[in-house]
Amino acid sequence: MTLTDTAHTAGTTDATDHPGRVQGDLMQVQHPELRDRVAVVTGAGRGMGARFAAALARRGVNVVGADIDAELMERAASGLRQENGGVTGAGEVVGAGVDVRDRDAQEALAQTALDRFGRLDIWINNAGVFPEAPVEEISVAQMQTTLSVNVEGVLYGAQAAAARMRPGGAIVNMASVAAVRVRRGRAAYCSSKAAVSHLTECLAVELGDRGIRVNAIAPGFVDTEMTRWVQDDPAALAKALDNVPLHRLGSPEEIVGPMLFLLSDSARYVTGHVLAVDGGSRHV
Ligand SMILES: NC(=O)c1ccc[n+]([C@@H]2O[C@H](COP(=O)([O-])OP(=O)(O)OC[C@H]3O[C@@H](n4cnc5c(N)ncnc54)[C@H](O)[C@@H]3O)[C@@H](O)[C@H]2O)c1
Repeated sequence: MTLTDTAHTAGTTDATDHPGRVQGDLMQVQHPELRDRVAVVTGAGRGMGARFAAALARRGVNVVGADIDAELMERAASGLRQENGGVTGAGEVVGAGVDVRDRDAQEALAQTALDRFGRLDIWINNAGVFPEAPVEEISVAQMQTTLSVNVEGVLYGAQAAAARMRPGGAIVNMASVAAVRVRRGRAAYCSSKAAVSHLTECLAVELGDRGIRVNAIAPGFVDTEMTRWVQDDPAALAKALDNVPLHRLGSPEEIVGPMLFLLSDSARYVTGHVLAVDGGSRHV
C-alpha cells in the first residue's frame, strides 16, 4: 500500500495553472500508532478539513467530519469513503451537520464520536470564516460572526473534546499567519486568529493537567476556496506571493504532514505550540 495524499483535493492543483500552484504529490509519514484512534474534524466538508479527514482515515483512524453545510459534508464523507475504498485498514468516515458556534451541537458531536467508535483521541478545530471589510466598515454582525466561529467554535470544540478524552488525547486548532501579520481589510479575521493562538496556549496549560495536548497550526496562503479571491486575481496573487519567501501558495497536502506530526506520538512532549506552516511569510 502506498500512502500518498494527492488526489481529490478541493481547489487544487495543476502546476500549469499559474506559478503559485504546486502539484500536491507528497509521500506522507504513516504514523502507524494512529491506527484505531478516533478523530473529530470540524469544517471537514472541503478544503484542509477534508484533507485532514482523508489523511487520518487512510491511517486507520475513524473520523467524524462536521460542517455547517450538512450536504457538503455528506458529499465529502461519501467521496472520502470511495477514495479510501481500496486502502487496507482504512478508518471509517462519517459526516455530521454541525455549526461550531453552537456549544450544545459540539457536545453532541463529541458524544456521537464516542458512542459510535467507543473512544475519542483527536479533535481538529478547523472550521473558520474569512470575512473582508475595511476597519471603518466592519459591522457588528461581521465581528460577532467571526469571533463566534473562529474563537468560540474552538473553545466549545476543545471543551467537548476534553470532557471525553483520556490522557494522550490531542487537540489541534487552526490559527493563521494572520495572527501575527496584518492583512488589510481582514481585521476581524486577524484578531480572531490571534485569539486562537493565545487560546491554544491557555488550553494547553489547563488541559495539560489531564494529559491532553493542545497545539495549533498557523498556515500562510493555502490553495483552498478560502483563498480563491487571491488566486483568481493575478495582480493580487503576485503581490501576495512577494510576501512569501518560498514564492508560492501552500497546498493542503503540505499542511497535512505537520498536522499528523502534532497529532502523533512523535509530538507527545509538544503542547501549547503554534506551528507556522507558511513558506516563511510570517517573517515578511
Ligand atoms: N486557506 C488558507 O490560506 C488559510 C490560511 C490560514 C488559516 N486558514 C484556516 O484554516 C482553516 C481551514 O481553512 P480552508 O482554507 O480549508 O477553508 P474553507 O473555506 O475551504 O473550508 C472551511 C470549512 O469550514 C466550514 N465552516 C464555516 N463556518 C462553519 C461553522 N460555523 N460550523 C462548522 N463549519 C463551518 C465551511 O462550510 C467549510 O467547509 C480555517 O480555520 C482557516 O481560517 C486557512
